[in-house]
Amino acid sequence: MLKGKRILLIVAGGIAAFKSLELIRRLRERGASVRCVLTDAGAKFVTPLSLQALTEDRVYSDMFSLTDESEMGHIQLSRDADLLVVAPATANILARMAGGLADDLAATVLLATDKPVLVAPAMNVRMWTHAATVANVETLKQRGIRFIGPNDGAMACNEFGPGRMSEPEEIADAIEGLLVPAERPLAGKRAVVTSGPTREAIDPVRYISNHSSGKQGHAIASALAALGADVTLVSGPVVIADPPGLRTVHVDSADQMLAACLAAGRIDIAVCAAAVADWKAARPSGSKIKKKAGMAPPSLELTPNPDILATLSKPGPQRPALVVGFAAETENLVANAIDKRRRKGCDWIVANDVSPAVGTFGGERNTVHLISASGVEDWPTLAKGEVAMRLAGRIALHFGQPPKAEAAE
Ligand code: CTP
Repeated sequence: MLKGKRILLIVAGGIAAFKSLELIRRLRERGASVRCVLTDAGAKFVTPLSLQALTEDRVYSDMFSLTDESEMGHIQLSRDADLLVVAPATANILARMAGGLADDLAATVLLATDKPVLVAPAMNVRMWTHAATVANVETLKQRGIRFIGPNDGAMACNEFGPGRMSEPEEIADAIEGLLVPAERPLAGKRAVVTSGPTREAIDPVRYISNHSSGKQGHAIASALAALGADVTLVSGPVVIADPPGLRTVHVDSADQMLAACLAAGRIDIAVCAAAVADWKAARPSGSKIKKKAGMAPPSLELTPNPDILATLSKPGPQRPALVVGFAAETENLVANAIDKRRRKGCDWIVANDVSPAVGTFGGERNTVHLISASGVEDWPTLAKGEVAMRLAGRIALHFGQPPKAEAAE
């Protein structure tokens, strides 16, 4: 139920706008109040009068209307809402949102808001798959804008494919999912997530490290926290922000990362997503190593770092109930990952291809395979946030299953 919830519905110009009329009815049936902003293009498909009749409220369209601004300014429109919904969201409004334009009332409200925003895209399949739209969608997802759809199917333009706006009932469900406090299936569970690279000092100014951005590990920490887990994120040096709603411990080296994981105490879930440097300098210099005229370059003696994943996976009373590792591979991905799972003693391995051509390191998307005792699951290419949510969902499911089913896994 959406009793007492206030939705600001932005109707942009697409043939799917007729479904927004039905959406208003569905939302009101669930107890929400709906106020509409109609773009000029939207008004070519549905009339302000229909929206007004269905919302029992006036419809806002004009940014420069003195009456509107005095009665309900554009900032107030978003302040008064619990959620902004753009349905249908055309390629044009997505581009204007991604570009930060404020060229009409709808775009201005979207730029000025600090409320969550859900968009339901609807457009021709070629417009949806165009590189410009793909990039805009990616940008908006990165900024936390939620998406529902589009669905596959026949479209008004006689083409078939992704581009149809989700059905009003689906959108109403998504809205309820965002506004009604979520179930917290991992409440009471403690988790540690490692993320980012480690830095192994050679001397006070030089170090060994790698290209890990921490995006995947940080997203997993957030996803576990969203499902109610008490999360400690142990992060190597990264440029991304500490995620809200959990504890972040900053470390440099693998030794520090291991110490921080062990200091977290008894945990139920460990996810090792960090790209830990395998080796460190055997004898890091306390002072900057200087060049000396005529001398050969110094040789660097390396020594192995502790394996954090293998350490946490060691059987014993302290072992977390579920230990998940990552396998970053450039060849024989699945075979190497299956072997890695066995060698490290962890329960699951998330295997991802880090060949430079795939662009996993630092990129926004990830194609992974989940390897457990019961086999290999191939996941589609997903945004790193989606991989994280799916993994967190699987972890919740694992803990929700009766012990017998777990043992059979
Ligand atoms: N890992 C770790 N501590 C290390 C090295 C790796 O915790 N010292 C963890 C990573 O966080 C990841 C998993 O082990 O979850 C696999 O990392 P990867 O670099 O793919 O494997 P390696 O152990 O380096 O094995 P290989 O060199 O054979 O690829």
